[in-house]
Amino acid sequence: MRILAIETSCDETALAIISDATGSVGIERHLVSSQVDIHAKYGGVVPEVAARAHIERLFPMLDLLEIPRDGNEIDAVAVTAGPGLLPALRIGVETAKALSWSWQKPLVPVNHLEGHIYSVWRNQTEKFEIRNPKSETNSKIENRKGKRGIPEFPAVALIVSGGHTELILMRGHGLYERLGETRDDAAGEAFDKTAKLLGLGYPGGAMMGKLAAGSLQQAAGKIDAVAFPRPMMDSGDLDFSFSGLKTAVLHYVKGTAAPAALSDVCASIQEAIVDCLVLKTQKAIEKVRPKSLCVVGGVSANRRLRERMQEMADKEGVTLFVPDLSLTGDNAAMIGIAGYFNAKAGKFVDPLTLAADPGLRLGESSS
Ligand code: KG4
Ligand code: ZN
Repeated sequence: MRILAIETSCDETALAIISDATGSVGIERHLVSSQVDIHAKYGGVVPEVAARAHIERLFPMLDLLEIPRDGNEIDAVAVTAGPGLLPALRIGVETAKALSWSWQKPLVPVNHLEGHIYSVWRNQTEKFEIRNPKSETNSKIENRKGKRGIPEFPAVALIVSGGHTELILMRGHGLYERLGETRDDAAGEAFDKTAKLLGLGYPGGAMMGKLAAGSLQQAAGKIDAVAFPRPMMDSGDLDFSFSGLKTAVLHYVKGTAAPAALSDVCASIQEAIVDCLVLKTQKAIEKVRPKSLCVVGGVSANRRLRERMQEMADKEGVTLFVPDLSLTGDNAAMIGIAGYFNAKAGKFVDPLTLAADPGLRLGESSS
């Protein structure tokens, strides 16, 4: 089976071809065009601007995939149906519907969050491409060699992105039980909002990680330089809360006469966020005793989070899976992999009626 996958839920225009030609699911092509440069000047993603950029980029990118005009060689079209920004989602959904209808190929909706989870579900040699169609110099081809393992059920997934922080239990493909989630800001938002308070630009999560790690040719930050709060550590449930951290950082920035060095503040903020994520994930593991732990989404690129999760997973005797760095942020390869398993389970929808759903929850079906 070969699947064309489309992702436009936020500010990355992404396409991929997924296939099981070699016996297990893998990525054939994988194109991501980021709009981060466009939105940075607004300090956040502007939905209508994102939608317009998706329209401009999607068709040139489709051409790059060199799919025959009649859709021959493609067995199904997978698309992110939600959650996300409605104007942005609609471009991908309407394009997928048109292709599915005109090619007479089944249409598979994918929840963006299940996409992030499935970013670790691949185990074969692959060659894929990351390309900004406007700038050939940004092209990069990655070659992946060798077999890798895939998660086993039951699995616990921690999704940490700019919009979501959720702990999910999976007892099988497509079966999602929510164990906990954030009550206010997402972990990525906590990174971005506190980074903004420190003047690190938007989105500042990755920059904060670099300053904390000392990867900008400065000394690594001290994780205990500033005592920031770790909300809900003793709440007895598996929920998170990050808005108090943002307020604490604001007070620190405005009210401290002699603040610590920037890298120390970054390392202290990062440690507070990572502590909350690791502790609640550990509690989830102790509660449901899964075989695998998947840590996915944009924030899973964070080096310190990976280190701390690995230590915890080793201690708990559970196997940790994190995505390749090119699959932590939004991309269509993960949508195609999730779409592959949805297609195997016969989860198709009528290409005339699928509607983008900005508030789609994991485990709910799109219509
Ligand atoms: O999954 P994603 O690309 O988009 C959403 O679906 O939201 O996640 C983006 C988030 C942003 O908040 C970004 O700052 C954060 O992931 N992020 C990081 C790092 N790289 C990206 N946060 C902390 N450390 C990083 N290295
Ligand atoms: Zn995402």
